[in-house]
Amino acid sequence: MSNIPSTRWPDSTLALLTEGYEFISKRCQRYNTDMFKTRLLLQKVVCMRGEEAAKIFYDNQHFKRHGAMPQRVQKTLLGQGGVQGLDGEAHRCRKDMFMSLMSPARIDLIGQLTAKHWREAQKSWQTQEKVNLFVEVNLILCRAACEWADVPLVEAQVKPFTEELVAMIEAPAALGLRHWQGRKARDHAEERLARLIEDIRSNAQPTGEQTAARTMAFHKDVNGNLLEPRIAAVELLNILRPIVAIGRFIVFSALALHEHPPYRQKLQTGDEQMLTHFVQEVRRYYPFFPTVAGIVKQAFSWQGYKFPKGRWVLLDLYGTNRDPRLWERPNEFRPERFESRDINSFNLIPQGGGDYHQHHRCAGEWVTLEVMKVALHALTQEMEYTVPPQDLSFSLSHMPAIPKSRFIISDVQAKPGNL
Ligand code: HEM
Repeated sequence: MSNIPSTRWPDSTLALLTEGYEFISKRCQRYNTDMFKTRLLLQKVVCMRGEEAAKIFYDNQHFKRHGAMPQRVQKTLLGQGGVQGLDGEAHRCRKDMFMSLMSPARIDLIGQLTAKHWREAQKSWQTQEKVNLFVEVNLILCRAACEWADVPLVEAQVKPFTEELVAMIEAPAALGLRHWQGRKARDHAEERLARLIEDIRSNAQPTGEQTAARTMAFHKDVNGNLLEPRIAAVELLNILRPIVAIGRFIVFSALALHEHPPYRQKLQTGDEQMLTHFVQEVRRYYPFFPTVAGIVKQAFSWQGYKFPKGRWVLLDLYGTNRDPRLWERPNEFRPERFESRDINSFNLIPQGGGDYHQHHRCAGEWVTLEVMKVALHALTQEMEYTVPPQDLSFSLSHMPAIPKSRFIISDVQAKPGNL
C-alpha cells in the first residue's frame, strides 16, 4: 500500500486560483497519476480525475456529501439545507422530489416556454443596434424558469431577479464585491421564496399541479414533515438558478457556431442527430463546473492507495471531459465524435456522474439538453445576425468561464418564414 502522490508545495490555493479549470489535470499529467494530494484553503484534499475515479467517487459506500462544500459555495451558489448536502435515505427522498419534476411532458414544456420567450425577445432585438446575447438569454431563461416552476414574476422583477440568480452563479470563486453580491442576492431571494412557500401552503397563492413551487411547498421529508420554508426556498432556487445557468452553455454554443461555420450549415438543415451531438460537444468541451466535492466516509483503499476517513476529495469534471484516454483529440471541438463514441454515466460528466436517483448527478440534465436544443434551433433556423468584432476569448482561471465580451450580436433579423 503506498501513499497518494503529493504536490511539491504544501498549499495549492494560489495555483488553483491562477490555473483554474486546468489545475487538477495539469498535475495529474505532471505526476503521471489519476490522483494527488495537496491542501486547498489550508485543508488536506485528494484531487482525482478520469472515468475510474468518477466510478469510485460516486460509490455511496465510500463517499458522503454532508459538509463537503466550502462555506463560500453554500452561502452563494447552493444555499444551506438543500439536496446537495444530503446523504442516504434523506438524499434519496429529496432527490425523488426533484426527479418527479422531470417527466417528458414537463421537459417538453420548458422547451416550449424557452421558445416562446425567445421569440418575444427576438422581436425587440430586431430594433436594436447591438444585443448582448448573454444578458438577453439570461432574461429569457429567468422568465421561462419562473413560468415553468409557477413562481410569480411581475415585469419589474424580471431584471433584478435575473441579476440575483446570475450573482449566485458567479459568486463562489469570486473575491471581494462580486462574492458579497452573491451572498446578498441569495439572502434576498431565499426570503422572498420562503414567503411564497408559506402563501402556497395557506392557499393565498394558487399554483398548478406538478409545478416545482407546489411540489416543494408540499414535499414531505423522510420523517413525514414539510420542509422548513427557507429550505423549500433553497430547493426552489435549485431549479430556477441552474435554468438561468444554461445561458452560459447557450453563449458557448453561439461561440462554437461562430468559430466553426460548417456546423451552422448542418444545423440549418434541421439535422436532429447533429443537433444532439453538437449540444453534447458544447457540454464536454466548454468549461462550466470545474469539480464536485465529497468526504471519505470510512477509510478504504483503492488502486493501492489509502483514503483516510474524513478526507476531502475533489473529482475533476472538466479534466475528465478532456481526458485524452477517453476522448480522441480532446482539445478539439468535434461534435461528430459522438457518432462513434458511447457515453456512459462516468465518462461525459459536465453535470456530474452516476445515477440520477441514487447519486448526486444533476437533476436538470434533460432540461439542459432540451433548452440548449431550443436555443440552437433559434440561433440557426429562426434568426440571422452578425457577430461584430469583439473579444471572445475566455480565461480558464475565471470560474465560471464566459467570453470577455459576453457575445455581442448585431443586425438581428428573422429568417424568412419566421416571425
Ligand atoms: C448549465 C447547466 C447545468 C450544469 C453545468 C449543472 C451542473 C451540475 C453539477 C456539476 C451538479 C453536481 C453533481 C454532483 O454533485 O455530483 C449538479 C447538481 C444538481 N443540479 Fe445541475 N447543472 C445544470 C443545470 C441544472 C438544471 C437546469 C437544473 C434543474 C432544473 C439542475 C438541478 C440540479 C440539482 C437539483 C442538483 C443537485 C443534485 C443532487 O445533489 O442530488 N441543474 N448540477
